[in-house]
Amino acid sequence: MAEQQRIVINGGKRLEGEIRVQGAKNSALPLLAATVLCSGESVLHNCPRLSDCDAACRILECLGCKCKREQTTVTVNASVISGTEVPTPLMREMRSSIIFLGSVLARCRSCRLSFPGGCELGPRPIDFHLAALREMGAEIEENHGYLECSAPKGLHGARITLSFSSVGATENIMLAAALSQGVTEIHNAAREPEIVDLANFINKCGGKVSGAGGSTVAIEGVESLSPCEHRIMPDRIAAATYLCCCGATGGELILTDVDSGDLRPVTAVLEQMGCSIYTYGTEAGKKGESNIFINLHRPLISPGTIRTNVHPGFPTDAQPPLMSLTTVASGTTVFVENIFENRFKHASELTRLGAKISVEGKVAVVTGVKSLSGAELLATDLRGGAALITAGLAAEGISKISGLSHIDRGYESIEKVLRGVGADIKRI
Ligand code: UD1
Repeated sequence: MAEQQRIVINGGKRLEGEIRVQGAKNSALPLLAATVLCSGESVLHNCPRLSDCDAACRILECLGCKCKREQTTVTVNASVISGTEVPTPLMREMRSSIIFLGSVLARCRSCRLSFPGGCELGPRPIDFHLAALREMGAEIEENHGYLECSAPKGLHGARITLSFSSVGATENIMLAAALSQGVTEIHNAAREPEIVDLANFINKCGGKVSGAGGSTVAIEGVESLSPCEHRIMPDRIAAATYLCCCGATGGELILTDVDSGDLRPVTAVLEQMGCSIYTYGTEAGKKGESNIFINLHRPLISPGTIRTNVHPGFPTDAQPPLMSLTTVASGTTVFVENIFENRFKHASELTRLGAKISVEGKVAVVTGVKSLSGAELLATDLRGGAALITAGLAAEGISKISGLSHIDRGYESIEKVLRGVGADIKRI
């Protein structure tokens, strides 16, 4: 369906109003995988209505779980796991399906899935995931594009050092280790906030995870986990996108239901560019405040050089929408993409709007222009798609964006959210 749809934006309208930010996709996916560890009914609140979350629920159903969604609450009954295979179409639909490997292997001692392969951002290997699970006692064979994994005697604890702080590998190891025998230590673990959310969930279920959010995470395996009720953390990337949309239109927005602490790497850059940002309202369990007010009085200025990095560095997922903002900021902005090999596909689309961008390898140089003008654009990946919407809002005249299936993977009704704060945007 989304393949035939387009988003049409009549740009240049100032955004003003309030947006309640959705729950985090990148937390929802490992948490849905974590429900496999619990024999019984887990309840996840604030689970965003996204095609990626639907795909994760379909995987759970293939494994024999019962999933039910009511608004943003998803209930997963994993009392019985009757299958251990993730079907290939679902692996293809969502590369992050690999996140089910750790939990299925830990609970069922075997798992079969197809190799996820590359994606629009580059090759995206899973060698860290597989090496770590092998260290924990898994036997893994790669046959004709399939991964046949088993741990007949169960998994055991191990001391694992990641050569790069991979988010997915850290999560997969945590999921596998939660039901393993003994203690697993992850050194050079990813420190993203979503890792902390996963640790909190496992601990609420009776697991023993310590150090999440730091570079060493220890997981003491337990015999069984009991289901719990958990509220998924706010989506820091959706929030960052809406902040960029606001900056791009010279608007004034309040974002509610965020954690401003997790957004600091992004808000610091927006302040450098001339946006005023205030955070307020505390809530238990959050590192920062729950609301962000942003407005822009003066023209945007370039923030200089932006280097994407692992948390707490500037998030690679926020690079595309920020790039759109810098296309209309005075001065030159240099982006150095350190996480993914091929994450500048949006740049050539932005030039259709009149942006001046040159790309060489992992570096993109943006020379700010006075204004952009509407054009027909194609989204080829999720955050790149968000960048096109951000730029379409800033551009004078009509922009038509296709490739919406990418955008729908990560943003809950993005056009409705933006229309609610004054954008002239519709899906046709
Ligand atoms: C997660 C996020 C994604 C975000 C990324 C980096 C989810 C569902 N997705 O993706 O939105 O952009 O973190 O913050 O949470 N790598 C290897 N071998 C491996 C694993 C990773 O070489 O076994 C490389 C990747 O190719 C990539 C880099 O490490 O270049 C980072 O990947 P990783 O942190 O694993 O990202 P994901 O978990 O896939």
